[in-house]
Amino acid sequence: MPVGQVRVDLDGESGIFSIVVAPAERGRGIGQAMLRRAVAEVERTGLATTLTALARVDNEASIHAFEQSGFRRRGGPGDGFVTLDLVLG
Ligand SMILES: CC(C)(COP(=O)(O)OP(=O)(O)OC[C@H]1O[C@@H](n2cnc3c(N)ncnc32)[C@H](O)[C@@H]1OP(=O)(O)O)[C@@H](O)C(=O)NCCC(=O)NCCS
Repeated sequence: MPVGQVRVDLDGESGIFSIVVAPAERGRGIGQAMLRRAVAEVERTGLATTLTALARVDNEASIHAFEQSGFRRRGGPGDGFVTLDLVLG
């Protein structure tokens, strides 16, 4: 049964990540597992060298999931959003 989606928009060497897990399925590790598999797939295919994600500053679940998957905050929050990066290789 589909429970969510992770998407990577390619922009040159960059991959912009976005993710959503169905509300009823959240908090069970699915988001983190999806992120890890998506990062591994980008790494395997070599489609991007830098991964970026944008999360609202108050979206702790999202920020935490990205950080747990190796993303790191870039600078301070701006316009109510936090940018997180993961450099591959
Ligand atoms: C962000 C999202 C994908 C996380 O998916 P999930 O399956 O619930 O996440 P996980 O269960 O894998 O949890 C990831 C981590 O975040 C933590 N977490 C989960 N919900 C949390 C909350 N409300 N507050 C703080 N931390 C939270 C978990 O404890 C886990 O950390 P841990 O391994 O150290 O325990 C999901 O909440 C979602 O779809 N949100 C709406 C869409 C969105 O905001 N997308 C991000 C913008 S691209």
